[in-house]
Amino acid sequence: MKRVGLIGWRGMVGSVLVARMREEGDFAAIDPHFFSTTQASKPAPDVGHGPSRLGDANDTAALAACDILVSCQGGDYTEAVHPKLRAAGWRGHWIDAASALRLQDDAVIILDPVNRPVIDAALATGARDWIGGNCTVSLMLMAFGGLFRAGLVEWMTTMTYQAASGAGAQQMRELLQQMGALHTAARGLLDDPASAIIDIDRRAMAAFDAMPVAAIGAPLAGSLLPWVDRDLGNGYSREEFKAGAEGNKILGLASTPVPIDGLCVRIGAMRCHSQAVTIKLKEAMPISEVERTLAAAHPWVRIVLNEREATLAGLTPAAVTGTLDIAVGRIRHLAMGDDFVTAFTVGDQLLWGAAEPLRRMLRLLIEA
Ligand code: HSE
Repeated sequence: MKRVGLIGWRGMVGSVLVARMREEGDFAAIDPHFFSTTQASKPAPDVGHGPSRLGDANDTAALAACDILVSCQGGDYTEAVHPKLRAAGWRGHWIDAASALRLQDDAVIILDPVNRPVIDAALATGARDWIGGNCTVSLMLMAFGGLFRAGLVEWMTTMTYQAASGAGAQQMRELLQQMGALHTAARGLLDDPASAIIDIDRRAMAAFDAMPVAAIGAPLAGSLLPWVDRDLGNGYSREEFKAGAEGNKILGLASTPVPIDGLCVRIGAMRCHSQAVTIKLKEAMPISEVERTLAAAHPWVRIVLNEREATLAGLTPAAVTGTLDIAVGRIRHLAMGDDFVTAFTVGDQLLWGAAEPLRRMLRLLIEA
């Protein structure tokens, strides 16, 4: 049984990962060791192997005793610990949710329903660093990977509607506090059916100035933020840069990249990222064939009929949250021609966007 070290398992992505591993019975297939940067020697969670103690996540010798390390601890931890382990000659597998190593040549971005051939080829040549993709990019490729795999895409734009969870746990809490501030400001008037909507609006909008913004940086509830992640200084946000760079690396197209570009926007959803895309196909294609190609890519694509009722019932963050569904709908041609297709997709940012590709890579390594 492989000795597997887990680091950062208490955070948001880590706890979703552990919950999924419990659901899928993964702990029965490994010899798990939980590490902590702050709680070493305290009791570790019992995942079916009896009581144990937390290891010290900064003890490289203890980490190096593992065949596989899975880190959801964040990029700073990766940057501090990974080079030390490799310099000390550790040849185990490193599975990581953080972006720190993602674009390094010898790291593979893992999204096996989309890039299993890339993963298999890397395994065969001895790759050892397996990094989860940016959540938006992974969800975009989980939705549209079928068209890329068939070589049908000339270029694609993706306009995102990103949930607070992508920014972090504190931001999710603050979003709800902001929503509460809006409601509190308007409550007296809301309770009076005779009150004027313009007065209610004025009260709610005045609340923007008093909202908590320490985590998010600006009012998000009742608004949106058309900038996600750092400013790269060239008109791009770092999130927007990742679409093309990571997307093509996942697809194994880094040397002949398909242009993938768009604007990234934070909205007041909790944990589902949505994206509206325009796909320029290499040739005109009937919508039924586009749908078939998308649905055939892997079992998690759920095509939503392009009708109002089906869309409102099945193609929203509220409908998708907490599930492994990759909902894809609003699929139709654009007025520019039958080689232009638009679509909308929704996926859970913490599942396929973060934890699930890591869990599946671990499974793949222990079954290899
Ligand atoms: N950067 C993403 C976001 C998180 O802010 O939504 C997932 O990689």
